[in-house]
Amino acid sequence: MKLLSVTVQLLLASASWSQRTSLRRHTVGAVTSEEEHEYSSKRDLLQDIVTWDDKSLFIHGERLMLYAAEMHPFRMPVPSMWLDIMQKVRALGFNSLSFYVDWALLEGKPGEFSAEGVFSLEAFFDAALEAGIWLIARPGPYINAEVSGGGFPGWLNRLNGTLRFNDEAYIEATNNYANHVNKLIADAQITNGGPVILYQPENEYFYRNRRTNPDPPDPEYIARIIQQVREAGIIVPLHSNDGDEADISRVLHHGAEEVDMIGYDAYPLGFDCFQGGAFSRWGGAGPWECVAKFNQEFERVFYKDLYSLGFSIISIYMTYGGTNWGNLGMPGGPTTYDYGAAIGEDRLINREKYSELKLQAQLFKVAPGYLTSSLDSSGANYSSTSSVSIVARLNDDPEDGNFFVARQTKYWDTTSVNYTLLIPTSMGVLAVPQLGGVLSLIGRDSKVHVSDFSVGDTNLLYSTAEIFTWKEFETHKVLVLYGAQGELHEFAVEGSAQNTTVVEGVGVTIEDKNGYAVIQYHPSPERRVVKVGNLQIYLLDRNSAYNYWVTDIPGKEHGKLPRNYGTSVINPQSLIIKGPYLSRFVEIVEKTVVLSADFNATSSSLEIIGVPTLANKLVLNGREQSFNRSDLGTWVVEHVSDVPTTKPVLPDLRHIEWYKIDSLPEIVLDYDNSLWTKADLETTYNTWNFTKQTTPTSLFASDYGYHTGSLVYIGAFNSTGGETSLTITTSGGRAFASATWLDGEYLGSYSADATSRLHKDKFNMTTPLVQGTAHSIVVIIDHMGLESNWVAGNDSMKEVRGILDWSLEHANSSSSQTHIDWTLTGNLGGEDYRDKARGPLNEGGFFAERQGFHLPQPPLDRFQAESPFDGVDRPGVAFYSAKFSLDISSQHDVPLYVVFDEPDSSLKFRAVIYINGWQFGKYVNDLGPQTYFPVPEGILDYKGENWIGIVLIALDEAGAAVNIRLESALPILTGMTPVELVESPVWKERPGAY
Ligand SMILES: *[C@@H]1O[C@H](CO)[C@@H](O)[C@H](O)[C@H]1NC(C)=O
Ligand SMILES: *[C@@H]1O[C@H](CO)[C@@H](O)[C@H](O)[C@H]1NC(C)=O
Repeated sequence: MKLLSVTVQLLLASASWSQRTSLRRHTVGAVTSEEEHEYSSKRDLLQDIVTWDDKSLFIHGERLMLYAAEMHPFRMPVPSMWLDIMQKVRALGFNSLSFYVDWALLEGKPGEFSAEGVFSLEAFFDAALEAGIWLIARPGPYINAEVSGGGFPGWLNRLNGTLRFNDEAYIEATNNYANHVNKLIADAQITNGGPVILYQPENEYFYRNRRTNPDPPDPEYIARIIQQVREAGIIVPLHSNDGDEADISRVLHHGAEEVDMIGYDAYPLGFDCFQGGAFSRWGGAGPWECVAKFNQEFERVFYKDLYSLGFSIISIYMTYGGTNWGNLGMPGGPTTYDYGAAIGEDRLINREKYSELKLQAQLFKVAPGYLTSSLDSSGANYSSTSSVSIVARLNDDPEDGNFFVARQTKYWDTTSVNYTLLIPTSMGVLAVPQLGGVLSLIGRDSKVHVSDFSVGDTNLLYSTAEIFTWKEFETHKVLVLYGAQGELHEFAVEGSAQNTTVVEGVGVTIEDKNGYAVIQYHPSPERRVVKVGNLQIYLLDRNSAYNYWVTDIPGKEHGKLPRNYGTSVINPQSLIIKGPYLSRFVEIVEKTVVLSADFNATSSSLEIIGVPTLANKLVLNGREQSFNRSDLGTWVVEHVSDVPTTKPVLPDLRHIEWYKIDSLPEIVLDYDNSLWTKADLETTYNTWNFTKQTTPTSLFASDYGYHTGSLVYIGAFNSTGGETSLTITTSGGRAFASATWLDGEYLGSYSADATSRLHKDKFNMTTPLVQGTAHSIVVIIDHMGLESNWVAGNDSMKEVRGILDWSLEHANSSSSQTHIDWTLTGNLGGEDYRDKARGPLNEGGFFAERQGFHLPQPPLDRFQAESPFDGVDRPGVAFYSAKFSLDISSQHDVPLYVVFDEPDSSLKFRAVIYINGWQFGKYVNDLGPQTYFPVPEGILDYKGENWIGIVLIALDEAGAAVNIRLESALPILTGMTPVELVESPVWKERPGAY
C-alpha cells in the first residue's frame, strides 16, 4: 500500500504536554493534487499487518478502533505491576498503550546502554502480550515527558553540538541508544509476533517558534532519526506528534514524506490542570485537584466530541501517570506524576473518570459501524433547539448504523437543557421521544445516540440511552443501556409490545409503533430488564453501569496474541460481569468459569451474565466459589467471601527504632576531600548560549559527570587578607535549594519558589579574614533535575546546574583576588554510578548517599539512635535509617503511602525518602503540594523487612523534623498476578566511597 493512499491523518501529539494524543482520519479528498505530487515519491509499506484506509487502522485485516492509554514503564519500577495496570487499561475497553522510553535512564554513561531489571523493555512487551495490548513505541531520542533533560542523559551537557538537530556530534551521541532501543523494539514488532504496531520517531518536533517561525527546526534531522529507526529494522508505520493546525501544515510540507501518519497533540482547553489532566508543579495544585476538575464530565464533553469527528486512533495522555521516583522527573515537578489520570498513581481505579471512560470505550468494541461512518455535512438539523448541537455520523449501509453526538452548544455550559432528537432512521426521520416528554443534558454533558444499530440480527431502530455493550450468547442476546438519573430515555427495537416483557423491575412504558416496540423509562438505581424475543435489554442508570464489566480472555495462548482482540462481539468466551471493583479476565474451561476479579468492601457482589448453559462451576481467583442462579439465568454471588473490610495494621513510624548519621561532615575545616573530583577544568564543555563561565575553572556539575540528586562543593583557600564577604550564585532548577557554610559556620540558605532557577547570595563575614589563614567553603545544592529541551535548537537542556559564580570581596579593594581550590561531588561515581539495579539517577551526592547508607541494611553501628521526628536543631543534612516489617496478605492489593503530616510551611526543609534504597519521595516542606507519596508493593516487601531512609535537609536556623506515617488504602481482594519483589541490593562497603 502506498503512503499516498494512507489517509489516516494522524495527528497527534501525544506529547507530554498533551493531555491526549489523537490520531485522526484525514480523507483522501483533503489531499490536494499538489500534495499528491509531493507524496508520490513515498515508499511502499514495509509490512502488511498494520494497514489503514481513510477511516481507520487495520490489524491483520481487521478494522479497528485504536483506543490507547499512555503509560510509562519507567514510572512504575516494579515490572510485575505492569500487567496489573495493563489489565486495568484493557478493562476500560482500550486495546493499546503508548509508551515513552527515557534515554537518560538507559545510558547513564556514554556508550553503556543497559535495559535490565526494572528497566527491561522485554518484560514490558511480555506484559503487553499477556494483557492483550498493542503498543505504540515512542523512544525519542527526545521525549520531553516531564522527565529530567526531557529524556536526554546529563552527559549531553558536554556535547559541542546542537541537540535535536542534524548535527554530526549530536547524531553520533544518539547512535548507541538508538541502535539498542530500536533493536529491542524491532524484535517486539507485530511482524515478529510482538505487540508493537506503531512507532513515533522524536516528539512534538515541529512546535518550534510556531507563532513566528514558519519553518520546522530541521527537517533533515527527522530524516536522520528515521534512518536510524529503519536501519534498526523498524517496519511498522511511523507517526509524528504535533500540536495545532499550523504545526500540522508544517509537518505536511516539510516532513510528512518521512512519517506514515501525522499525529495531533491536543489539549482541548489549553494546558492547565484546572481544566484537564496535567502534571503537578511545585507549589501548585496537587493531582487530586486536577482529578476533580478534569473529571468524568470533561471526558463526556471532550472525548465524545472526538467521536463526533470520527477519530479512530486516540491515545489518552496519561491514563496511568505513575511516579517520578529516583530523580527522574523534570525540575518543575514533584515526585508524583499522577497526572489526575483515570488510573491513580497508586493503581486505584476508584476515580469516576475511570468508570466513565470504560462506558465510552466499551462502545467501540461493539459498534463496528462507527469506524465506517462519515460526518454528515448535509446541514440537516437533528435537534429541536439551538442550545443543543448534534453532530451526525452516518453510514451508507443502513445496517451499519448511525451515531449522533449531542452536546450543549456552549460546551462550557453547566445548566441543564431539554431537547427533542430529530433522528433519521430506516423508518424515516422520527421526533424522539415519540411517547412524550423531553430528552435532557443535565449540566456539563454529551451523549451518543444511535439509530439502526445492529444488535446481532435485531435492529435497534434508535436509542437515546447510551450503549455500554451487547453480546450474543448461546441462547440469547444481551444489550446494556445506560442513562443518568433524572433523564428520560426511549428506544425502539424490532418487535412488538406483545412480545416484550419486563422481566425485572417496574416503571417501563411500552408501545407499538410501525413494527417496533418503543420503550420509555427514567433510569433509576433499580435495574430494569426488558425482554424482546431473545434479546434481554438491561436498563441501567449511569452509576449502576459503572459496576459492569465486559470481560477479556487471559493472556497469550501458546505465544500467540490474545484471541479476542478487536471489535468482534460474537465471542462466547466474553461475558458481562456486574459487581466487582475490577474484572480482569474470564476463561471458560470445559464446564468451569474461571474468573479473575477484584473486590473491596463497597464492591463485593458478583453477577455473571451470559454463562454457557453447560457450565456448572465457578472458580474465582483460583478458588471454587458457590453461586445462585437468578431468574434471568445469571450466576449470582451476593457477597464474595473474605473481602477485607478493614485496613491492615501498619507499623507506627514514630515508634520504630531510628538511627541517625550526620550527612554533611564536609563542613569541618580539616575534612579530607582528597578523593573528591577537582573542579579544575579551565574551560567548560558547556556550549549553551545563556550561561557563560565567569569563574577561573568551571564549576558546572555536568562538566564533571554529576547530573542528579544533590551536589556538594568544597572550596579551600588561603586568605589574602581582609575578605569581608562571599558572593555566590547557584543554580539547581525550579524549586531548588542551596546553603553555604564557611569554616563550619552556617552562612545562609535559599529555598526557591516554583519558578526560580538560580540565586545569588552575599554573605558578610563577622570579621574580615586574616591573611594566610586556611578556610573552607561548603555549598550544597538540591538539584531538581535537568531542564527539558522542548524547543529544538535552543539547547535549554544544557542549562547549568551547580555554582555559576563566586567572589570574595575585600575591604581593601587593592588586595589581590583570593584563589579557591574547588572540589565537588554528586552521586558517587557520577556517570560511573554504582547502583546498576536502581539506575543512574536514583541517588544524590550527600555523604550518606555516597556511602550507600540509603540502601537496606546500612552499618548502623556507625549511626546513633536518634529519630527524624526529633530532627535537628540547626541547618545541615542528616540521614536517618530504620527498618520495619509488613505482613499483608498476598491475596490483598493494598496501596501504601508515606504521608507527611501537619506540615508547618514556614519551616524551610526538605526530606528525601528512600524505601529499600529506592528514592520514592522528594518532599519540600515550604512549597508542597505533595504530602502523600505512594510506594508500590514490589519496592516494599509486603511479607518481610523493609528499610526506610530519610535525607533531611534543614535550611532553617531552627532546624527541622519530620512527622511521617505509613498509610494504606482500603484493601482489595485481588486476582492480580502475585507481585515479585524487585532486586534491591543491600548496603555493602563501597570501595572508593568518600
Ligand atoms: C565547538 O565546535 C566548534 C566548531 O565545530 C568550535 O569552533 C568550537 O570551538 C567548539 N567549542 C568548544 C567549547 O569546544
Ligand atoms: C426540562 O424538562 C423537564 C421535564 O419536562 C422540566 O421539569 C424542566 O424544567 C425542563 N428544564 C428546562 C431547563 O427547560
